[in-house]
Formats: sequence, structure tokens, C-alpha cells
Amino acid sequence: MGWVLIVVSLVVLWVASLCKILRGSSSPSRSLFLNTGGALPKRNVLLVVAHPDDESMFFSPTISYLTSRGHNLHVLCLSIGNADGKGDIRKEELLRACAILKVPLQQVKILDHPDLQDGFGRVWNHTLLAKIIEGEIISYGIDSIITFDNYGVSGHCNHRDVHYGVCKFLHDTSQGTIEAWELASCTKYDNSCGLFHCP
Ligand SMILES: *[C@@H]1O[C@H](CO)[C@@H](O)[C@H](O)[C@H]1NC(C)=O
Repeated sequence: MGWVLIVVSLVVLWVASLCKILRGSSSPSRSLFLNTGGALPKRNVLLVVAHPDDESMFFSPTISYLTSRGHNLHVLCLSIGNADGKGDIRKEELLRACAILKVPLQQVKILDHPDLQDGFGRVWNHTLLAKIIEGEIISYGIDSIITFDNYGVSGHCNHRDVHYGVCKFLHDTSQGTIEAWELASCTKYDNSCGLFHCP
């Protein structure tokens, strides 16, 4: 009988922690963020970032949340972050971070495209981004996208272009069932950080 009590208390604890997360959020759309509640189907999620380290600096709580709930996460990093000539090192670091964050390495893609190089003042073509993102969506049957908002947390133009590339994809696609979430930037005027449904 002892183990039954242990299982019951674990379930109660799990439900209690889930409620806490739900109550802790102020926005209804945030509280529904990919919450399976244990019953709904698992999602195929694509996280789209600009540079290696974006995943750790900005999205590691999101990644941990998703993998701990059994969602299938893919990471698309659109550059190796070679602005200072350290792209090869940064690429390795991204792979190591993903291993720690429990994202299968075969689900991590890091591009080194001549038109999508890391740097301030480098404009990334939104049509090209949308095309690349569409390719990933189709290849892996993605149903949810997570990315930066239009400020891109730090204001880096590459982050902002990634946001607009995702928006362009969402605007052009005929697949109406894809959900997209953006990480709300904290600015001097507004500290409501967190993930929100793309408008
Ligand atoms: C942007 O990318 C698209 C798709 O690859 C291409 O057709 C278009 O010419 C590009 N635009 C510019 C300004 O480079």
C-alpha cells in the first residue's frame, strides 16, 4: 500500500506545481502556452534563433519547459555567429548547450548562409528566411513556432529580422494550423516579459 501513497502524493505535488505555474502568469494566452495538461497531443515545436547562445540566453526556460513535458523540439539557428570570427567555436557551444538542454542533436540545425551572416547592419532577407523556415516546417511536421518578437530582446537587427521572417512565413503559408509564439522583450517602458501568441 505504501507505493500507492507515494504515487498519489507525487501526482498531487505535480498538479500543485502546475497550478502554481498557471496562477503565476498574468496573461491568459501565456497560461495556455503549449500546456498539454497530460492529455493533449505532444507538439512538434521549432525554435528559431539567429545566433548560437540565443537558445541559452533567451530561451532556456522555454526549452526546459517543453522537453520536460515531452514535446518534440527542433532548433533552427540561422547563423554560426561569426561576427568576431568565432563561428566554429560558437557552433560547437550551441551543440553542447542543446545536449544539456536535452534537445536531440539530429534536431538541431545551424546554417552558415552567405546572405545570413552575423552582424549589426547586416540585413537578413525576410523572404529567404520565410523560405528556409517553411522547409523546416514541412520536413519535420512542425505545428508550433517559437521565436523573438519584433524588438528581439536586445534589439539586435538579426533577431528582429528572424521575427519578420517568421511573420512572413505565417502570412504566406496556407497551413493555417501552425501556432507561433514570440518572446516579449523587456524594454525601458514595459517589463511584461514572457511568451505571447503572435498577433
Ligand atoms: C530575397 O530572397 C528571395 C528568395 O530567396 C529572392 O528571390 C530575392 O531576390 C531576395 N531579395 C533580395 C533583395 O536580395
